[in-house]
Amino acid sequence: MPIKASLLSCDLLNLGAEIRLLEEAGVGGLHIDVMDGNFVPNIAFGIDAIRQVCAFTKLPISVHLMVSNPLQFIDVVTYTNVQYVIIHSEGNRHTEETMERIRNRSSKVGLAINPATRVSDVKDFLRLADLALIMGVHPGYGGQTLIQSTISKIGQARCSNPEMLVAIDGGINEKTAYLANREKADILVVGSYLFDNCSCNRLDCIKEKLKILCKED
Ligand code: DX5
Ligand code: ZN
Repeated sequence: MPIKASLLSCDLLNLGAEIRLLEEAGVGGLHIDVMDGNFVPNIAFGIDAIRQVCAFTKLPISVHLMVSNPLQFIDVVTYTNVQYVIIHSEGNRHTEETMERIRNRSSKVGLAINPATRVSDVKDFLRLADLALIMGVHPGYGGQTLIQSTISKIGQARCSNPEMLVAIDGGINEKTAYLANREKADILVVGSYLFDNCSCNRLDCIKEKLKILCKED
């Protein structure tokens, strides 16, 4: 079960060291949350940060665009190790065009689904996607509690497009990972649980947490 580490909750003053730790601990990739203070009430990671992280690590990177106009950013976020560019369709009049542009830039296409959005509302977009990112929390902040009703969307999304991978993002920790695993999520995106309350040996602590997240029950 690949775990993608969301950098939102890492020690930002030591970003490089945190990424090296994640590489050594064996995460499956990095998840970079881009927030514009408009689509969500928070601001996070800009283009320069993405560029520098991409140059620094060989880990596959997912860029999660929580911005009002994702089309504006596709050309500048598709670096070679950007495996997925993930957009939202909520409030976006150019979803299909944006998805096409991501594909033309040789990244895989992800569609994020907010807690208030039904899978059936976005089924046409899911047919065009390589990845569904089920939001387990309202986007904007790390460290929120999982909205448990979102878990059933993992199976619903898979039915819409069996070829696509399904990930869950937000609220995943040692108490909730089993719910996502039971629904056969392909990828868990995890932020605060990985980084918070780590004992003095941060590497061992993160390794242990990765093991716990992969447990089936
Ligand atoms: C929420 C972000 C998530 C978040 C996950 O808006 O999209 O990627 O960083 O953080 P945790 O795991 O702390 O819920
Ligand atoms: Zn995210």
